Amino acid sequence: MTDRWPGPEASHEGGVFARCGLQELVNDALRFCQPLFLEQRILVTVEPGPSQLQLDCRPAEVVHVLTSLLVNGAEAAMTAPDRWVRLVVTERQDDIVLVVSDSGPGVPSDIQAAIFDPFVSTKAPGPGRGLGLTIARRLVARHGGAIVLVDGPGPTCFEVYLPKCQAVRSA
Ligand SMILES: Nc1ncnc2c1ncn2[C@@H]1O[C@H](COP(=O)(O)OP(=O)(O)OP(=O)(O)O)[C@@H](O)[C@H]1O
Ligand SMILES: [Mg+2]
Repeated sequence: MTDRWPGPEASHEGGVFARCGLQELVNDALRFCQPLFLEQRILVTVEPGPSQLQLDCRPAEVVHVLTSLLVNGAEAAMTAPDRWVRLVVTERQDDIVLVVSDSGPGVPSDIQAAIFDPFVSTKAPGPGRGLGLTIARRLVARHGGAIVLVDGPGPTCFEVYLPKCQAVRSA
């Protein structure tokens, strides 16, 4: 399933794109999430290691997207006996692909179609609850990318596609 948003959200308005190493982006996101992973004793793995990959992006926005997905994964995994969150960073044609999966129970089927909509949440009520994926989707769209919940019987899995090179996309 692809879900690329054309239109205003995909524009370059709102900041400068910089070429960034995936390693640094991933490290930043992991730093934000580390207290939660440690407190909840969740094993986080990054495969195969993004070392050389690069991406034209607004780095704070990509870190925000990654953090939202990792926190969601952790919040799901903490209800499971086997607690893990896995981030796979890879490239596919012109895209960087970020795959975040977890050992949690999965997204409830009755909200799957709406999880990117604002204020859709199954968690304890609180200010701003249910905005994580809405904002993530918006930020990804502003990069000309796509974020999807992967259908399937395996672990819960979100995929983010981000064009490696903004110049190619806007040419
Ligand atoms: N990895 C996941 N496993 C299971 N359910 C998930 C997962 N990620 C998201 N969800 C479901 O989608 C809902 C929306 O997620 P979203 O991140 O937008 O909001 P939230 O996590 O509830 O609140 P917040 O705004 O603090 O992120 C969640 O409440 C949860 O029901
Ligand atoms: Mg969330």
